[in-house]
Amino acid sequence: MELQKRKVLIFVLLSLFICLTASGLSLAVDNEECLDCHGDPDFSVELPDGKTRSLYVDPQKFKVSVHGSNDVACTDCHTDLTELNYDNEVPHHTPAAFVNCGDCHDEEQSAYERSVHANARSAGKKGAPICYNCHNYHYTKHLAAHTVVERENEFCLRCHDPYKYHNWLPQKNTHFNYVECSVCHAPETGRHVHLRLYDLMTEKFLSGPEILQKLGVDYDTFLKKFDKNGDGKIDYSEFGDIVDALRMKRIRAVFWGELAVELDPKLHSVTKGKAIKNCETCHSINSPFFKDVRLLFTKPDGSVDFVPVTRNVLESFHVTHFYVLDATRVRILDIIGILIVLGGMAFAGGHMTLRILTIPLRRKKR
Ligand code: HEC
Ligand code: HEC
Ligand code: HEC
Ligand code: HEC
Ligand code: HEC
Ligand code: HEC
Ligand code: HEC
Repeated sequence: MELQKRKVLIFVLLSLFICLTASGLSLAVDNEECLDCHGDPDFSVELPDGKTRSLYVDPQKFKVSVHGSNDVACTDCHTDLTELNYDNEVPHHTPAAFVNCGDCHDEEQSAYERSVHANARSAGKKGAPICYNCHNYHYTKHLAAHTVVERENEFCLRCHDPYKYHNWLPQKNTHFNYVECSVCHAPETGRHVHLRLYDLMTEKFLSGPEILQKLGVDYDTFLKKFDKNGDGKIDYSEFGDIVDALRMKRIRAVFWGELAVELDPKLHSVTKGKAIKNCETCHSINSPFFKDVRLLFTKPDGSVDFVPVTRNVLESFHVTHFYVLDATRVRILDIIGILIVLGGMAFAGGHMTLRILTIPLRRKKR
């Protein structure tokens, strides 16, 4: 009996202790509390000039953002708004302090500080971007799944018109569509070629789960099934097996190749006068720019899984926009390729067919 009482006492004390420490830890305001006001779509203030400024933060979109889903709280960015006093009409002071993304992203911050943009900003140039002029702040997603065009639209093209520069560069359209700006403009950054599967029937990229489902595998069993020699990479003939497996499932698709930067803080060092200009850097047989080739499986949160593939896969006729490596194509493969292509031709879209048909022509031109 005595023992029983003591146990109860210990239990009560322990619970009390846990409660106290827990409440001590959660002194900072909960997201929910901020969203009581800011989660209302009509929440806005009138500005002196009569315009209204929305103060709405979409709770659902915030929750699935890269920050919300990693438990970054409102007050982790708005570090000055950690106390609410409901005696005042506005329960916190305004204006809010400047949000310093570099508190958590210090490597991006220091790379950015070496960039033309930071320089232009300290020189007082209007419109030179800081972190959140380029990035969305409340609803940021992982960026790896973006295509090159999406990356450029979201970032550089908002402020620059690349057709105004680059007069020395032929085929501007092709280069801007398949080579991400930062590949040339942040040359210290690593880069890779990524291949995404483009469905010719729906004219859409297939997402990772869609591809895997059609092939009847999951990410973990994909290599087991297709990497026959077990070297952890998909080589030319194994790539052919994937193409065949897709064809069996009646998927009419091509692999879309793009040259993109590695998601590495260094990409923020956009510098002036150091961009890549030499054609040979890319247009040569052993260019290091095409060493790292990946098959992407994009995920809904914007992140990716990928499988490495050997470089000669770029010579496959099922990969578009990599005629850049023409020089490395082997004649006999070309002939086999043409036969395969003729087999699937009836299904290919007009534009694709044209591009494929003109390969020999374009090759001769060079
Ligand atoms: C009781 C309602 C209420 C709550 C709760 C509340 N806010 Fe506000 N907040 C306001 C109002 C009202 C304004 C507009 C003030 C103005 O500009 O007149 C505002 C403005 C802001 C601004 C813009 C300030 C600026 O720079 O102009 C930020 C950022 C902000 N709130 C963040 C937060 C965060 C973070 C929380 C939770 C810790 C929070 N708010 C909780 C009512 C609220
Ligand atoms: C990743 C950092 C980050 C997080 C997390 C974050 N904010 Fe913000 N918030 C910002 C930045 C940056 C601004 C823009 C400040 C500026 O324009 O000077 C901003 C602006 C605001 C504004 C002003 C209106 C607007 O949209 O520009 C409000 C209100 C606000 N935040 C509320 C919140 C609330 C509520 C949460 C939590 C649900 C939250 N913020 C979470 C970075 C963040
Ligand atoms: C000039 C536009 C621009 C500015 C300014 C900018 N970024 Fe970026 N950021 C990018 C681009 C472009 C990418 C690469 C994503 C892509 O290509 O889709 C990127 C990628 C990132 C990534 C993912 C890669 C990584 O480093 O892990 C983070 C995190 C990031 N930025 C944070 C920041 C922070 C913090 C700042 C401010 C110090 C900042 N960015 C300023 C354009 C910008
Ligand atoms: C309190 C810490 C914190 C602050 C402040 C913060 N972030 Fe983040 N950020 C994170 C975390 C954690 C992740 C997720 C990292 C991961 O999944 O690898 C992240 C991820 C990102 C990514 C996605 C990178 C990718 O592609 O995977 C971008 C972009 C980004 N942050 C930009 C910003 C910007 C812009 C600001 C300022 C408005 C900011 N962050 C402020 C903690 C923070
Ligand atoms: C928010 C607008 C904005 C965004 C987004 C932006 N820039 Fe800039 N950029 C500027 C401004 C402003 C300057 C300074 C221009 C000047 O000095 O006259 C600049 C300068 C440059 C310069 C040097 C050119 C010069 O005349 O000095 C290069 C190169 C550059 N940016 C590339 C990029 C790339 C690549 C991206 C995408 C990753 C990008 N910028 C995104 C606004 C932007
Ligand atoms: C094939 C490589 C390459 C690609 C791709 C490329 N650029 Fe450039 N860009 C250069 C070179 C080289 C210069 C000459 C100036 C230099 O050396 O920085 C330049 C100049 C510029 C300038 C003017 C800088 C100045 O000094 O006046 C801007 C702005 C710019 N590029 C933006 C972009 C944007 C935005 C994209 C993407 C749509 C892009 N570039 C794609 C190589 C490239
Ligand atoms: C950063 C790497 C890079 C640099 C530097 C570069 N290119 Fe390209 N180029 C590419 C890529 C990738 C493609 C797209 C592949 C494709 O569609 O065949 C391409 C496509 C082309 C095409 C079109 C080929 C076709 O069949 O559509 C021509 C022509 C070309 N480049 C010439 C040049 C010249 C000339 C230079 C130098 C002034 C140059 N490139 C610099 C990467 C580069």
